[in-house]
Amino acid sequence: MTAVHVINGPNLNLLGRREPAVYGHETLADLEARSREVAAGLGLDLDFRQSNHEGELVDWLQECGADVAAGRSVGAVLNAGALTHTSVALRDAVVGAEVPLVEVHLSNVHAREPFRHHSYLSPVARGVVVGLGPLGYELGIRALAGATGGAA
Ligand code: DQA
Repeated sequence: MTAVHVINGPNLNLLGRREPAVYGHETLADLEARSREVAAGLGLDLDFRQSNHEGELVDWLQECGADVAAGRSVGAVLNAGALTHTSVALRDAVVGAEVPLVEVHLSNVHAREPFRHHSYLSPVARGVVVGLGPLGYELGIRALAGATGGAA
């Protein structure tokens, strides 16, 4: 069965108790359950992961790219957390491994501190969803599932 990857970066394991005014009350487990339901409805398996370590995220993006090349995955929804704003390595992994990518942020990063306004990932993503909370994950999964080689 084809999968969709959902990859979460640093500190997203703290969702639910981390700055709830910014990130809401849903936990990462809640997000995973919701994502699994959406993926299942689209006939996709869900590969849902979280890491606080940049190198591990690079490895997972490369794995995802290999799965896409083999027809085993439709691509990745990535919430890279703070690494969005700092990591050339994640951007290079997306490009190098040819990962169809939807970048997601729970919060509206453009309404926050200026250092959150720049993303190394947006220029290499098929699409970007910010500020819509958990719905962003759902939209990202749906976009990748519907990808035909054009938009997302
Ligand atoms: C985030 C936004 C980032 O700026 C922040 O560092 C996060 C979460 C979001 O989902 O809104 O860790 O990616």
